[in-house]
Order: sequence, then C-alpha cells, then structure tokens
Amino acid sequence: MDLYEYQARDVFEKHGVPVLAGAVATTAAEARAAAETIGARSGGVTVVKAQVKTGGRGKAGGVKVAKSADEAEQLAGEILGMDIKGHTVHRVMIAQGAQIAEEYYFSVLLDRANRTYLAMCSKEGGMDIEQLAVERPEALAKVEVDPNVGIDTAKAQEIVDAAGFDAETGARIVPVLERLWVVYRDEDATLVEVNPLVKTTDGDIVALDGKVTLDANADFRHPDHAALEDAEAADPLEAAAKEKNLNYVKLDGDVGIIGNGAGLVMSTLDVVAYAGEALGSKPANFLDIGGGASAEVMTDGLHIILGDEQVKSVFVNVFGGITSCDAVANGIVGALKALGDEATKPLVVRLDGNNVEEGRQILADFNHPLVSIEATMDGAAQKAAELAAAAK
Ligand SMILES: Nc1ncnc2c1ncn2[C@@H]1O[C@H](COP(=O)(O)OP(=O)(O)O)[C@@H](O)[C@H]1O
Ligand SMILES: [Mg+2]
Repeated sequence: MDLYEYQARDVFEKHGVPVLAGAVATTAAEARAAAETIGARSGGVTVVKAQVKTGGRGKAGGVKVAKSADEAEQLAGEILGMDIKGHTVHRVMIAQGAQIAEEYYFSVLLDRANRTYLAMCSKEGGMDIEQLAVERPEALAKVEVDPNVGIDTAKAQEIVDAAGFDAETGARIVPVLERLWVVYRDEDATLVEVNPLVKTTDGDIVALDGKVTLDANADFRHPDHAALEDAEAADPLEAAAKEKNLNYVKLDGDVGIIGNGAGLVMSTLDVVAYAGEALGSKPANFLDIGGGASAEVMTDGLHIILGDEQVKSVFVNVFGGITSCDAVANGIVGALKALGDEATKPLVVRLDGNNVEEGRQILADFNHPLVSIEATMDGAAQKAAELAAAAK
C-alpha cells in the first residue's frame, strides 16, 4: 500500500524525522483555516499540495506557494478537483513554507533482484530524479544495506560520503537517514523515499516530500495500518473481492480471467493479451482462486467477474493438481447453478491435469449453453478473445 504524502509526513514525524507542519483539507474553506494556523509559523507563507498517489505533482501544477490564507483558499479551490495523471485531487495538504537552500534525494527500498535493501542518495534532488538516474547515474549514489544491520551511523556516513556531501552537510544528514531507516524497519515498508530532502537557509535538514510503501504481508503486525487505507479510492469490485478473501486485481480489459495458482493466472493474462492484440481485447482482471477451487469459491469468483460491466467473456483456466479436474468441473457446475440468470456471458473453460477426462465429461453432461470447452490454453485464450471482441 502506498501512502499519501500527508500520511507519510505523519509517519515520519512519529519516528522523529524532521518535517514541517502540515494539515490535510478537503475544501477550500478548510484549507484557509489550516493556512491561518500553519502560516503563522512561516511568515504567512504556506504551500498548497495536491494529495494524489503519483509523482510529478509540482510539474503538473499541483504544488503552489500561497503568501496568505486568502491565497491558500483560492489555490486550494483550483487544485481540488484537478486531474493529475488520471488521479482526481480530493484532498490538499497545507504545508508550512520552507526557505530552501538546497534540494537532495534519499530513498531506501527492497531491491528484490539483488535480494537486499538498497539506499540511494543524491545532492541533486528535487523534481527530476528519474531523469537524473538515466542521464547522469554517477550523480545518484547506490549503497547496499544489510537487513540485519540497517542504516546505523556508519552506514549513514557511507551513504552521504558516496553521494559526495561536504563534511558539515553530511554530519547534519546522517541522523536524519538513521531516523528514516527506523521508519522503514519499524513500519515494515518496502520503500521510503524523500524527494526533496532539503537544507533550509538556516542549515536544517527537513523531509519536504515523502513517499512510503508499506508491505501488506506485514499488516498483521500493524493493526494501525488499516486506518491508512483509502476506502473511497479502492475499486468497488476489488473491495468486494477482498471481503470474500479472493486474490483479485481489476484490470482494464474485457476478458474475465479465473485460474488456480498465481503463476498460471499470470501466464493466462499473457496469452490472452497476445491473442487479443489483433482483436482489440485484453484481460479484465487477475483472479487466482487457489488450490481448493470449490463450488463456493468458483461462485464468488464468477460473481465478481460477471459484476464487471467491461467483461464480455470469461476464461476459466484450471490445472488439476491437488484438486482434480472433476472437482473443479463440479465447482463450475455448482457455481453456474447458484448464479442462475446472473450468468449471462460466455465462459471458455480449459481443464488439464488430474482426472481431466472426468472433468470434461461433467461439463459436457451439464451442457450449459454459455460454456464451451477448449483443449489447450492458447486455443481457449483465442476463443475467449474472439467472443469478447464479437460482443463489442
Ligand atoms: N513545504 C514546502 N515549502 C517550500 N517549497 C516546497 C514545499 N513543498 C514542496 N516544495 C517545492 O515544490 C517542489 C515539488 O514538491 P514535491 O512535494 O516534491 O512534489 P512532487 O514531487 O510530486 O512534484 C519541491 O521540489 C520543492 O521545491
Ligand atoms: Mg517530490
């Protein structure tokens, strides 16, 4: 789960990372009230910042300096409702205005490919770190972090030295990096990024923009993280699937996908995308119903997928392993009986593995007008893509 900037700011504050005052507002009037209090700390100056889970807000016009509470109200009115890279702005943060002398970059993340944690740091932070990484990679220091040690004083010193900071600035940054490590470790994050980490004209180091990604696998250790979830932004189908404990991700296409096993479902997405390319069809979702594939799980899965208005056909791709194909076929039959009139879209089923003949026979005997059986995964993907394209 990615946090909003204002949530990252709060988490930073909790762990002693230096941040500026900030408050979230959903209306221009609330923004004005916040600017009156917060601006009092910085000569009336505040910054109105769009709260959307995407970068580049500054460039898109979503970060604006206000010299008075009046101006903050007016700017909040303009920024609220704005669209930034497909994200509608529902909230702004009113931040205390900083007197920036220099902007730096720092992040620590889970480097899956190298099976380690990685810290990145640059003297040239601000808005274009991705560009910097491509054009002048030498300006972005990369330092491995041992998970068992983390970023202690010595490691923080190694990072600021690698980034080329002078001794005085480096000495001010080191304790901030140690606190950012505590955020990363104690909150079970997979990313903590600060861009910019600034030096103010007074020489203080402050985290001005934060991005934090929390590891959902560790949610059980953090009951407080549930409150950070963004219920209103969640897709309603994903929310319904979550309630049924289904492993479902909504995508943008028209071919619904159900499979058993994450790897099988991922390759199903690939073959459907490939088959659908010429036809203008794409996978509509990821749904892994896991090993069991009982009638109940199949019913829940089909119910979610058929509830997606974009879906025009459904591809059920099952490999009978621990659960044999006849059990899965009975699951499909049970699901279609339970769904009744709700099952209105063609279903292409590919079964393989244990007891495949029995499974196919069960579906053939059921003889449902919307169900067709295909022998191969590629053939089924082609058929499902064609059915979806024909229904458009
Ligand atoms: N509180 C603040 N005070 C002064 N300037 C700010 C403040 N917050 C952001 N800025 C300026 O705006 C730029 C972009 O803001 P940032 O929060 O990094 O958004 P994004 O990364 O989405 O563009 C920063 O690089 C900084 O120069
Ligand atoms: Mg930024």
